[in-house]
Amino acid sequence: MGLSTRHLLQLEGAPREDLNLILDTAESFREILDRPIKKVPPLRGKTVLNLFYEPSTRTRISFELAEKRLSADTISFSAATSSVKKGETLKDTVRNIEAMRIDMVVVRHSSAGVPYYLTQCLEANIVNAGDGAHEHPTQGLLDIFTIRRKYKKIDGLRVLLVGDIRHSRVARSNIWGLKTLGASVAVCGPTTLLPYEVERFGVDVYTNIDEAMEGVDVVNILRIQLERQQAGLFPSQREYTNLFGITAERLTRLNPNYTIMHPGPMNRGVEITNEVADGPASVILEQVTNGQAVRMAVLFLLSGADKRETDLTKTE
Ligand code: CP
Repeated sequence: MGLSTRHLLQLEGAPREDLNLILDTAESFREILDRPIKKVPPLRGKTVLNLFYEPSTRTRISFELAEKRLSADTISFSAATSSVKKGETLKDTVRNIEAMRIDMVVVRHSSAGVPYYLTQCLEANIVNAGDGAHEHPTQGLLDIFTIRRKYKKIDGLRVLLVGDIRHSRVARSNIWGLKTLGASVAVCGPTTLLPYEVERFGVDVYTNIDEAMEGVDVVNILRIQLERQQAGLFPSQREYTNLFGITAERLTRLNPNYTIMHPGPMNRGVEITNEVADGPASVILEQVTNGQAVRMAVLFLLSGADKRETDLTKTE
């Protein structure tokens, strides 16, 4: 049995079976990343377009590498150097893309809902690489994969997300995915950076970081978007650091075998100290490596390659 969907738009509502299939498949691809030749053939003959309307380092490189390692033909589009600059609409851009016979589109956009919109205009499989403050499903999956590799389970773990929950697509994808797989999830941040109707998410809500960290296994620290200070959502970076910054002293409240995560990019010295970011419990770079395996699994499964005969023991 494959995935129940042709597209990956969000983790909200994603069946537990789909999440587990992606995570289990990612384990096979994670092993391929440790081989001398990190390339297998399942997407040979498929064309994948990376359609990035917003800046990205990790997600874009990670998808590009995942596609190349699966032997797909890849093209990368950047809004800054495209005809978007000449006023072309999203709809016209995607209609032109369709005319070029693209099989899969990986899209990042500042507006929530753009990946869904593309599913209505294109035949291609659509993968959401981050849409506004809605979701970033592959980041959620790679975070969950990283946690599962360490603890060999998700069920029963206590995971805390700290920072700007209101504007974070990473937080939303983590919350939905973790809850579906049985984790207990808490969020902590200034009231102004918590979502309206935060109760809807079914998480425990804290505005005091020291209370929030009691008995937690995993702390996932979100980037403070510094433009939020200009918008008056918190008074100063220094105050944010004092009240919510994750420091070595605060780690004593966590469970003994704790884990520190950050999706990047980090503001060192603001939401996380150097000591914590580079400490022994940090899996921040492991998240990045695992991201490739998770994205390979997503592309592999959405393309239907799992239903064709694919021997992953053979390299290209
Ligand atoms: N984690 C993440 O989405 O990073 P980028 O914005 O660099 O892709």
